[in-house]
Amino acid sequence: MSLTTTETPFTEAEIENEAERLLAKLMHVECDSRRSWNIDTCRSIAPLTLEINALKKEKEAVILAHSYVEPEIVYGVADFSGDSYFLSMKAKEANARRIVFSGVVFMAETAKILSPQAQVLVPDRNSGCSLADSLTGAQLRKLKEAYPEAGVVCYINSTAEVKSECDVCVTSSNVYKIVAAMPQKQILFVPDRLMADNIRVEMKKRGIEKEIVSSDGTCIVHDQFDPNLIAASRSKFPGLKVVSHPECTMEITGKSDYVGSTGGMMEYVKKTEAPYFMMLTECGLVERIEVESPEKRFISGCKLCPFMKMNSLQKIRDVLVSPRPEQIIELDEPLRQKALQSINRMFEMS
Ligand code: 13P
Ligand code: SF4
Repeated sequence: MSLTTTETPFTEAEIENEAERLLAKLMHVECDSRRSWNIDTCRSIAPLTLEINALKKEKEAVILAHSYVEPEIVYGVADFSGDSYFLSMKAKEANARRIVFSGVVFMAETAKILSPQAQVLVPDRNSGCSLADSLTGAQLRKLKEAYPEAGVVCYINSTAEVKSECDVCVTSSNVYKIVAAMPQKQILFVPDRLMADNIRVEMKKRGIEKEIVSSDGTCIVHDQFDPNLIAASRSKFPGLKVVSHPECTMEITGKSDYVGSTGGMMEYVKKTEAPYFMMLTECGLVERIEVESPEKRFISGCKLCPFMKMNSLQKIRDVLVSPRPEQIIELDEPLRQKALQSINRMFEMS
């Protein structure tokens, strides 16, 4: 348990300063329908953010937060925030003794593959991902037997064991470039069948002949968006720009003004002049843009990822104080080295 406000070792002035620091960021968050951020809500979390920031120094830890986690984590305690690829690079460069990965388990595993010397911690071991959890290494080995000539490409949203079975790993920011550059005509792309559909469309557009076969996973957040909403919203909000992720269906991506990774979507909105944006992705990304570009206007459309929302300040504090064994990422060394090869190939081909 953390200290309650009455037991906190921080002075009134320290808490007030921290509450004001948090409010300067969080007051811009409008998308969060579950809470409104004001000086009282910021004051209520200030002792915990102060405690976590002190613990980081004491434990020589770095906190990495995916853009989809709660804004009080991103702006209260994270050292770096961004997409899974960016955060893995930060994990590699951090040279930290401990890394707390506030995201989902496959991202923490990727950090461990790249930074084996660090103790990598997850605030909640149940923070899975419907894509990563859709395919085991054994299932992939069977698929490889069925398609022995195929180049094997895995999306970063996969387990370390699946990565260890692939020729190359990709993220949503480099998937088209890497698939296009693969020497094989037939590509076994796992585990996202909707992204596989989007790859087929993109390769056709580029005039590149590829046969894409896939497994059957989908993202339970991005497979939910209704394409009818796009037409209805465009007629209601003239000039609207629709932004989506390649984990969405072809019906959604085909009707979008921009399709890209979480980092790409954020960059597009920041640099694009438009009266309104509709973000067909996880709401955490909208909250990040609201903080960093408060002049942008959004119409509703985003959805919550239940796995990302398992992260909380309290769990980050607790894992820093005394991690339970299941919160420490451990990987078999030969498997880690094989998985690292597919990630290193991605760096070479990006
Ligand atoms: P990024 O790799 O772009 O951060 O996306 C991860 C994810 O889980 C998207 O749903
Ligand atoms: Fe996985 Fe989808 Fe959540 Fe991303 S948003 S972590 S792909 S379930």
